Amino acid sequence: MNKRLLYYSEEEAMSRIYRKLLANAHIPEKYLDCTFDNFDTDFMPENAKRAKKMKSFAENIFKVMEIPQSAYLFSYRNGTGKTHIAVATAKLALWQFVKRIYQQNPFKYRRRGNNLNEFNHYAPVFFMSEKNYLWKKKQYRTRNQEVLQEVELIENAIINSDLLIIDDFFKERDTEFTFGELTAWLCQRYDYNKPVIFTSNEDFKIFRPGFEGNPYLETEHYYSATYLYSRIEEMTQGFQFVFDDYKDYREN
Ligand SMILES: Nc1ncnc2c1ncn2[C@@H]1O[C@H](COP(=O)(O)OP(=O)(O)OP(=O)(O)O)[C@@H](O)[C@H]1O
Ligand SMILES: [Mg+2]
Repeated sequence: MNKRLLYYSEEEAMSRIYRKLLANAHIPEKYLDCTFDNFDTDFMPENAKRAKKMKSFAENIFKVMEIPQSAYLFSYRNGTGKTHIAVATAKLALWQFVKRIYQQNPFKYRRRGNNLNEFNHYAPVFFMSEKNYLWKKKQYRTRNQEVLQEVELIENAIINSDLLIIDDFFKERDTEFTFGELTAWLCQRYDYNKPVIFTSNEDFKIFRPGFEGNPYLETEHYYSATYLYSRIEEMTQGFQFVFDDYKDYREN
């Protein structure tokens, strides 16, 4: 019997696992193709070194998880490639998981007929957007099953994913509800030693205690704001990247 009929090649076997886990990673269609290879480092050359550090973050994901090391990608202006880099990091990190899974039992995964159902609900790497989640979470009275299921999926991932990407952090921060949610997510990740990659148009350092520019100074949200600051500061130390933003790639 031809071996090819019984077994996938190593490459095919790994790529099947990768595709399965990528589908569970909840990355928006629009960003699915983002990689380090197609990130144009000539566009704003200052950001190339930040991209490079995130590449190394992804390549060393198991070390990153052990530390645990989180990252904060920030620029005031839009279109600097923060989400692009966050997704590229997520995908490259996912490859490290795939390699590790494959190596644990190459024959099992090379054997044709293996349906990979064991990974149906496994999302080691997960992408969520703050605004998308908050909006859907507020629809708790809806009968729309898709919305309810997505909320549940994201909630599970906040707790269980090994690497969580929170896109557009602090996008919506003006209500009690939002602060309650954000502090709860951070508490989960921090207490359980799990890394997060944040992208944001807000400099979280303005929430530091006593800072005069803190928009929540002397408001009821002051303690939530300083709590968020203190957690993010500790989690992302060494991986806080301020992206240059004098151009928008979309206007390129
Ligand atoms: N240097 C780059 N090379 C290739 N594509 C890029 C680059 N920078 C941005 N892009 C592309 O431009 C679009 C906008 O980038 P992206 O969404 O990553 O920016 P952002 O910094 O997250 O913006 P925002 O602040 O609005 O969230 C995306 O489609 C992204 O793939
Ligand atoms: Mg973005």
